[in-house]
Amino acid sequence: MPTLVNDNNALGEKGYADNAVYPVYHTLVAALAAQRYKFICPTPETHARVIAKRTRLEGSLVARTLQDLFGWSIPASTLTALLPHDLLCDLIGAKLLVRDGDVLKPTIRVSSLSLSQPGLYIHGAWPTTDADSAFFGPDSYRYMRVLTSLASVRLRHTPPKHILDLCTGPGIGALHLSRLFPDADVVGVDINPKALVLARFNAPGVRFICSDGLLQYDGAPLDVVAIHPPFIANDARIYAAGGPTGVELTLRLIGEALNKLRAGGELWSYTAVPIGFEGTDAFRAALEKDSRWRIARYELVDADIFGEEMENDVTYPLTGSLQAIELALVKV
Ligand SMILES: C[S@@+](CC[C@H](N)C(=O)[O-])C[C@H]1O[C@@H](n2cnc3c(N)ncnc32)[C@H](O)[C@@H]1O
Repeated sequence: MPTLVNDNNALGEKGYADNAVYPVYHTLVAALAAQRYKFICPTPETHARVIAKRTRLEGSLVARTLQDLFGWSIPASTLTALLPHDLLCDLIGAKLLVRDGDVLKPTIRVSSLSLSQPGLYIHGAWPTTDADSAFFGPDSYRYMRVLTSLASVRLRHTPPKHILDLCTGPGIGALHLSRLFPDADVVGVDINPKALVLARFNAPGVRFICSDGLLQYDGAPLDVVAIHPPFIANDARIYAAGGPTGVELTLRLIGEALNKLRAGGELWSYTAVPIGFEGTDAFRAALEKDSRWRIARYELVDADIFGEEMENDVTYPLTGSLQAIELALVKV
């Protein structure tokens, strides 16, 4: 399992969050919005394939557009005219662009949250191979859709007042929940302080706590805990590392969420579960065994995601597919 210091609630502020970076984020996002910048974030695997193809077709890659630079993480020439000079200097000063020989490499990406709405979201650059990469991708879009869907059918008569987005990363679930429930108090929790620096910019109305699971949460009893957890088996990246079969961390975090929910409170999740060759689902079986909650919803979102993982004899020897699911549990 990856190790990040996680028992220091203030680490986010002390270790990483240099407040000087926030005005630079603001200026960058405003400049991109003014150029009608749009970028829908693909999976890291698709990203890698596109970069390999473009390298084959175009030779060594240098960013020609803002999408190349802040979407595809293609370095820009140090002489680039893609950005106003002052902003370029601020981006270098804030280490959002770092010099590497005669190119500037981006350390963040900027993605659109919707095809129809404006709104840009900052997250980690590609490749996402570092253990503490700040995740955003197609699963995050699915997570938003699951939250919208659950919000429309669950707790319709008693809108939640206290909501927590666990495993928030750069804050997408917390941001989305704060829009779905504008009167609620929304808290975001993540173990990765680097992701929380971005979350504090992306979701300004939300309070964020750096914590391993819910160890550091001592606030009001919660009406809803939402979670898009890491769910890949035996992965070293903290955003992906779900445990030996991919579900162990999720089951632990659900147990912790249960302790912080009020009776009748709900756990909402978007996750993916390994399905055996005969259709067995050990994750669902584990949930069904526990009488502390009732399964209110367990439905397919996508029948087959990350198919490339199925090639791995070591991490997924007994798995036929990863099914993405939408889950709601009610604390009894
Ligand atoms: C798949 S990402 C989801 C990020 C975000 N919710 C989204 O949908 O884009 C999983 C997140 O869980 C966080 N995480 C992993 N282990 C954790 C733990 N023990 N406690 C809290 N957060 C954890 C990672 O840092 C990462 O940000």
